Amino acid sequence: MAAMSTTPAALPRVLSGIQPTSDSFHFGNYLGALRQWASLQDGHEAFYFIADLHSLTVPQDPKELRKRFVACAAQLIASGVDPARSAMFLQSHVPEHAELGWVLQCITSFGEARRMTQFKDKSGKDGEGAASVGLFAYPMLMAADILLYRPKYVPVGEDQRQHLELTRDLAQRFNHRYKKTFPLPEPYILKSTGKIYDLQNPTAKMSKSASSAAGIIDMLDEPSVSAKKIRSAVTDSGSEVRFDPEEKPGVSNLLTIYSSLSGRTVPELEDAYAGRGYGDFKKDLAEVVVDFVTPFRSRTLELLDDRAELEAVLERGSAQAREVASRTLSDVYDRVGLIRIGSGRD
Ligand code: TYM
Repeated sequence: MAAMSTTPAALPRVLSGIQPTSDSFHFGNYLGALRQWASLQDGHEAFYFIADLHSLTVPQDPKELRKRFVACAAQLIASGVDPARSAMFLQSHVPEHAELGWVLQCITSFGEARRMTQFKDKSGKDGEGAASVGLFAYPMLMAADILLYRPKYVPVGEDQRQHLELTRDLAQRFNHRYKKTFPLPEPYILKSTGKIYDLQNPTAKMSKSASSAAGIIDMLDEPSVSAKKIRSAVTDSGSEVRFDPEEKPGVSNLLTIYSSLSGRTVPELEDAYAGRGYGDFKKDLAEVVVDFVTPFRSRTLELLDDRAELEAVLERGSAQAREVASRTLSDVYDRVGLIRIGSGRD
């Protein structure tokens, strides 16, 4: 009897993006999102991109931006994204993102876009009258990024939750108004590391735009600089190493970082440092951080030696992404009533 051919069942998809807003990603990006990007490659078909269109929503120096893409790509690979298994690409290389973004803007109400906390925060200082329309439309572009790939999971940090909620609302609205087109994507946000805090101001999130240099650990910092930042991180009154985000936000944040880099649980660490005070704790964590960033940094630098290969990875990734994205966009255009001349549809 002839052997039956078996087609492997399609793997569920994951998708996520990161903005190229600085030369180095930071610990919040890595622990909140990138580490999960790497682990979810097992058992999923993964699409990971650099959100260059999103970065234009606030002013960027074109020269700086242009230089950053390969460094971002190298850091994604050094973080564990494997281009042989995942499509890694630049958002602007897949024009379907902006195209679906427009359709989604047309089904979003002004009021719901205005309620997005990121818009309120980022336009806060100078008032919404000075904010770009791009900043206002940012969440709908993000919804398009996601929905084009019909992913099951979107691994992100806690600060993206509201955007994911809007994405689900828009997917449901579209499905209801036209025809079922989009499965609802689920945020994949870790409870432990979904929000990493600023080392100097541990009730605010670690953030490129808001943190001081001392409050943020850049993945590409010199390891000795990262160690110093850990040693001078703000700790709380008292001397007990205890996880208590309300009373001890500084120590709790350091415990989160320590636990996630070392694989030791928070209670294990609390036991290990019982009665020993903050000094030992921070000194040991500084070593753990150095052991982590040193190989990350050298791997990134090594990858940057072969710029042509990084560009080839991004090119292959965008071809893979376009294959999926163009099919979804064509369904969407069809369903909303846009025609393609010569497509045979009427
Ligand atoms: P971005 O570039 O600000 O950050 C990239 C990822 O890092 C996470 N993150 C954090 N996680 C924990 N603690 C922190 N302090 C911290 N800071 C940043 C973010 O949550 C994010 O997951 N809008 C997105 C980019 C984007 C996107 C998408 C993501 C565009 N389209 C589609 C997912 C799907 C952003 O600005 O992330």
